[in-house]
Parts: sequence; C-alpha cells; structure tokens
Amino acid sequence: MSDNTIDSLREALKHSPENGPLRLLLADTLLALSRFEEAEAEYSTLLKLGDHTKAKIGLAQVFFSKGSYSACNVILEEVIDNGTRDVEVFTLYAKGLLKENSVDRAIEAYQKALAMDPDHFDEELDSQLRLRGGNESPEEGEEEEVDNRFLQKPDINFNDVGGMEGVKKEIELKIIKPLLHPELYKAYGKKTGGGILLYGPPGCGKTFIAKATAGQVNAKFLSIGLNDVLDMWIGNSEKNLHELFELARHNTPCVLFIDEIDALGASRSDMKQSSGRHLINQFLQELDGINSTNEGVLIVGATNTPWNLDPAFRRPGRFDRIVFVPPPDVKSRDSILRLKLSNKPTGTIDFQSIAKKAENYSGADIDAIIDMAIEEKLESAFVDGIPKPLETSDLVKALKKHKPSTQEWFATAKNYALFANDSGLYDDILTYLKIKK
Ligand SMILES: Nc1ncnc2c1ncn2[C@@H]1O[C@H](COP(=O)(O)OP(=O)(O)O)[C@@H](O)[C@H]1O
Ligand SMILES: [Mg+2]
Repeated sequence: MSDNTIDSLREALKHSPENGPLRLLLADTLLALSRFEEAEAEYSTLLKLGDHTKAKIGLAQVFFSKGSYSACNVILEEVIDNGTRDVEVFTLYAKGLLKENSVDRAIEAYQKALAMDPDHFDEELDSQLRLRGGNESPEEGEEEEVDNRFLQKPDINFNDVGGMEGVKKEIELKIIKPLLHPELYKAYGKKTGGGILLYGPPGCGKTFIAKATAGQVNAKFLSIGLNDVLDMWIGNSEKNLHELFELARHNTPCVLFIDEIDALGASRSDMKQSSGRHLINQFLQELDGINSTNEGVLIVGATNTPWNLDPAFRRPGRFDRIVFVPPPDVKSRDSILRLKLSNKPTGTIDFQSIAKKAENYSGADIDAIIDMAIEEKLESAFVDGIPKPLETSDLVKALKKHKPSTQEWFATAKNYALFANDSGLYDDILTYLKIKK
C-alpha cells in the first residue's frame, strides 16, 4: 500500500462519501501505514455515519498505537459488551489492560481469546502475562487451594507386591536408602535427589509398587496424573504443578507419584507451542528443586510410552534411573495369585500350574481373571444356594476367556528398542524379548 493508493481512495470517497466499506479500507490502510491521526479521523467519520463495529475496533487500535490505552479499552469494552466473538478484540483488550497494569483482567481477556480459538497464541502477550502474573503477591490463603484429597496413607508395602524383585531393588537403592540415611550419602559426597521413572506395559504394577513404596517407608502418597494437571488456561498448568510439588514438600516424607509423564511429550499438539515448553521447564525446575528443596520427597514417575518423553528429563538429578517394569514372571505371577486369593474362599489351588499358564498376563489381567472366576461361582451359588470355594479349574477356565493384554505394548516397544534405542535406554526390552543386539 502506498501514498498513491491513499490518494485514489480519497478521490473515490469524494464522489461517494457515504460508501462505508471504501472509507473503512482507507482508514485501515492509513492505520497500517502508521498514519494514526488520519486513520482516527476516518474511523470517527465512519462512526458518525452509523454504529460500525469494525470502525470501533480500528479506532481502538489507533488509540493503542498512540499510547491512549484507557481510550482503547473503553471502546473495546463496548464492543465486547455487544457480544463480539472476535478473537483479535480480546487479544488487543488483554494488551491494553496489561498496559494499564490490570494483570488479572488481562489474563482473563486472553483466556477468553484462547477459549474461542486455542491456536490463537500470542507469543509476546503470553510471555508478558506469565512474567507479570508470577510477580504479583500471592493472594491470602492460596496455599489452601490444593486440598488434601490427593494425599493418601497407603496400607500396602513391598510384601504386598508379588515378585518385581529387580524393581524393588532399584527403588530401595535409589530412593529409599537416601531417605533413611541422608548422612551416609553426605559423608561420601554423593548427591541425593532426583527421581525414578518406571515404564512398561499397562497393568504390570507401576502404580501399585509406587504406592507400596510409600507404605514401605511409612510415608504419605501423593498421586497425580499429569493429564489432570494440564489446563489450557495460560499459566494454570504450571501453577497446578507447582502446588502439587509444594503439597508434597509440606508433607514429608512423601512419595510423589506422577503418572502419565508422557503427557509432557513433544509429540502432543498442545506441547508444540511455547506454552508447552513453559510447562516442561516448570516441571524440570520442580524436579531440580531450584527454588525449594525436595528433601524427603521421593519422586516416582510412570509412563507406558517413555519414547514420547523429552530427553531433558533424563539428565542427572532428574529421572536418572529409568526402570523397566516387565510383565510378572512365573514366580511373580505365583505370588500375585497367592496375594489376591488370600482373602477369598478357595479349595486347594495349584498356584504353580496357573502361574505357568498365565504367561504374558499382567497383574491387572490376573485381577480380572480372579474376578471372572468369582462371578461364575456366584452365579452357580445362586442356582443351588450353596457357596462353593474357588478351585484351580475355575481359574483355568477364566484364563481361557481373558486374553493377556501385554503383547500389544511389546509390538510397539520392540520397534523403539530396535530402532530408537539411544545409549541402550531400552536394552531391558530387548533382553526381555530375548533379542540380541
Ligand atoms: N506385582 C504385583 N503384585 C500384586 N499386584 C499387582 C502386581 N502388579 C500388578 N498388580 C495388580 O494389578 C493392578 C494394576 O496394576 P497397576 O499398578 O495399576 O499397573 P500400571 O500402573 O503399571 O498400569 C494393581 O492394582 C494390582 O492389583
Ligand atoms: Mg498406573
């Protein structure tokens, strides 16, 4: 657009001064060329001709550019009151409010813009709101916002976990011993802290063993799914995450279990934008304990898809132990069966033979099989009114009806272990599948 365009637009308007669209084009062109005074005059003329939302928005932009923020905001408030759904209006309003130091209202306006169009991401506004939003003094009683419903006092410990000897040992070494003997670690100049990341097929005991870890050391258990923390509102995910870490820090000793860590993966669409990056950074800061110490907080993460995880999480002091939680081996299946049946009416059960038959079954699968067998028994008890104990044959029958659920996971995992196995990260998977490198 040039001065020539402007001249010809003006010329045309001389002949049809009532032509709204033409005048709007002139005004917008002047605004684009930063000729604010002239643009203002044209928008004002338009408004004299009638109620013209686009002219109002244009005028607000002129005022914003000239630094007349309150005039800008007054106009935009009117446009918003009239029920606009224009994302640009809310974004500009957020900027105007920010200039007037109304940070909370600016955040609110920007949130509305994002609600209308989640892709309408304004880098500059976003980072300024984060910066300023974080600097405001916390409101009274903010601590209490996170309620204690997430906190548990588990009544299970390692004795309730069948098998999983390797995982128990890692947990013992990496997080339990440092918690119980911090002075020894200090004496040897060994840093404590960081966390342990459990990965493997679903239903094989990641959540279960994390909970048992808390019971083992008589600690509280705080369990969160990362997807619950994710919030599309700007800055809220970071705040949620920070508050959960704080809750753990105020309740030591505590096992902080973070499930679905992969939700922070770079492949998620909402993580691609820089707001996702902010959350990842926040998470890393919390892990590193930069602003507050994580002493007494045992951090255990879990994921079914470790390959989606940002490698930054694996640096020393973070999740520096990555532990594969395989499907239970025959010995573990035997103990899982014994544990699960210990409080049920049973005849003599041939644990060994069932455990052998249940190859590839997860702990959750075994739960399901026992449930199915019990249901069958109940049905027949209704028929003849006699409750009979569970027998080996009942369980074998149930096994045939319920297929093991872990194979599907290995089909995917195998590809990562073979073709994307940075520094042998997934060697455990290959070993489990008896594949030679
Ligand atoms: N080693 C185990 N010992 C006892 N129970 C187990 C074991 N592994 C799994 N389970 C049972 O299977 C269920 C599902 O396990 P879970 O920990 O939720 O799996 P994941 O978190 O790996 O998806 C648990 O609630 C538990 O009852
Ligand atoms: Mg789980």
